[in-house]
Parts: sequence; C-alpha cells; structure tokens
Amino acid sequence: MSKKAKVTVIGSSSMDLVVTSNKRPGAGETVLGESFKTVPGGKGANQAVAAARLGAEVTMIGRVGDDHYGEIILNNFKQNGVNVDYVEPVTEMESGTAHIILAEGDNSIVVVKAANDEVTPAYVDQIVEVIKNSDIVLIQQEIPEETVEHVAALCSELGVPLMLNPAPARSVSDEVIEKAAYITPNEHEAKIIFDGASVENSLRKYPNKLFITEGKNGVRYYDGTEEILVPSYAVEAVDTTGAGDTFNAAFAVALAEGKSLQDSIKFANRAASLSVMKFGAQGGMPTRKEVEANL
Ligand code: RIB
Repeated sequence: MSKKAKVTVIGSSSMDLVVTSNKRPGAGETVLGESFKTVPGGKGANQAVAAARLGAEVTMIGRVGDDHYGEIILNNFKQNGVNVDYVEPVTEMESGTAHIILAEGDNSIVVVKAANDEVTPAYVDQIVEVIKNSDIVLIQQEIPEETVEHVAALCSELGVPLMLNPAPARSVSDEVIEKAAYITPNEHEAKIIFDGASVENSLRKYPNKLFITEGKNGVRYYDGTEEILVPSYAVEAVDTTGAGDTFNAAFAVALAEGKSLQDSIKFANRAASLSVMKFGAQGGMPTRKEVEANL
C-alpha cells in the first residue's frame, strides 16, 4: 500500500434514530413501522469512520452533547480508530440527531444539529496545526455556513486541499467554490449550488474540481477535454444511508495517497457500493481489504 493518508474531517457527529416501515407516511398520516434502531451517524462522523476503516490516519474535529448519545458517539469513534482529541462535549447541550425513515427502498431524513452548531470558526481556530499537517481536509454542511467559509479560507492559505461535500444542500459562496480543491454534490445539491444550471454546464466550468455523484449511475466530471462518467458497481442495496459519506471518504483517502482521479473514483465507487449492503450509515462501511478484494 502507498503511504498512510492523513485525513482531517471537520463536521457533524450525530445519533441516527432509524425507523423501518413498509410505507412512508404522508402529511397528516400515521403508519405502523417494522423496527426502530439507534446507530451512530452524522455526515462528518460517517466520513471519519469510513476513512479510518480504509486505513487512513483520521482526526475528527467536531462537537457532541454532554449526554448519553455523546458518550456512544465518542466510543464509536475510538472503536474505529478515529482520533477524538478535538471532539469536545458541549455542556448543557444535546448531541445532534438524525431522524430517519427507511421505506420503499429509500430514506427520508430530518437532522437536528444541536451540538454540531458549536463547530464554530473560533473552535476550528484552535486546531490550525492539525489542518496544516493534513494531506486532505473533508467538510460537509451539517455545521454552520461560516465555519465552512472559514475552513475554506484557512485551507487555501495553508495550501491544504479541501474536499467539500455540500450536503445537505444549501447555497455555497463563490469564494468557497474557488478555494475548495474538490466539490462533490449529488445532482440535487448541484442544482441548488449552481442556480439550476445543467450538469454539463456546471461540470465544464470546474474541470477536475467538480464531481457530481449520480447514485447507481456513477460519478461525472469534466477533465478539461471531455466529460467522463465513472460507473458505479451494481449491488443489492439494503440501506443507502451513508453511501455518499463512504464515497467522499474513500475518494479523499485515495487522492491523498496519490492515486489518479479515475482510480480514486473507482476505489470510492467500490467502497460506496459495498457500504449499502448492510443496515445503518456505518454498518456496511468496508475495510481497505474488502474494497481491494472487490476492485
Ligand atoms: O449521510 C448520512 C447521514 O446523514 C446520516 O448518518 C444522518 O446522520 C444524516 O445526517
């Protein structure tokens, strides 16, 4: 294996409260569910755990509440080998939660950020040294917008590549787009960020920087000459929650190890496809060995 990638993830850590049901309730409707489970999640935490399972040296920058969920989240990081020196519990605050309905082959999610809102620019300023020593920084949008802006400026100043996974969707400033090295929206997020522009036009504007994930189809980008679709792998999906997080983590790890763009996307597509074969955002996240055995 090539050198061990140093990955820093700045983002959310939550508990996922997951209900499975045969039917998704409509507005004003009550349906009976099949099961209820609580599992660690949050886009930031998922990406940190996925990167660690793939063999990277991972530091998580985040916040949890001073509650029972916070303890579970911290233990889960430790069990997965993620450095939690900078995941500080916030006093008298609840941990973030994601309320997930798994029904009809897909998920619907309501996120309550809670302690994740305390991942502020000032909090990040305490760990500039960690950012400086990273091969790559990964960030998402379940933390305040000004933190994303601050980290983009910091990374660009320090010359550390930043991967922005703009999920969940919200508008992203031109400065952030300019300063990020890689941006990885899905089609829906891309429409919001680029004011409804077509996939083709958005990709052409940001060669080798913008990677639009299209679920089962694969990942599309423009290499400066032509548009390239790197197809995903067909699998029997049990739970697609966290597939995007696995993709982002694996893409970041592979790039940080010096793999080519195409090889990094292939590796990430494989990791993401394996991740959907088990229940829970982190349940199916593969180890390095599992990805390599299936490439
Ligand atoms: O990307 C999947 C994650 O989104 C879930 O784990 C949930 O926490 C939501 O934030």
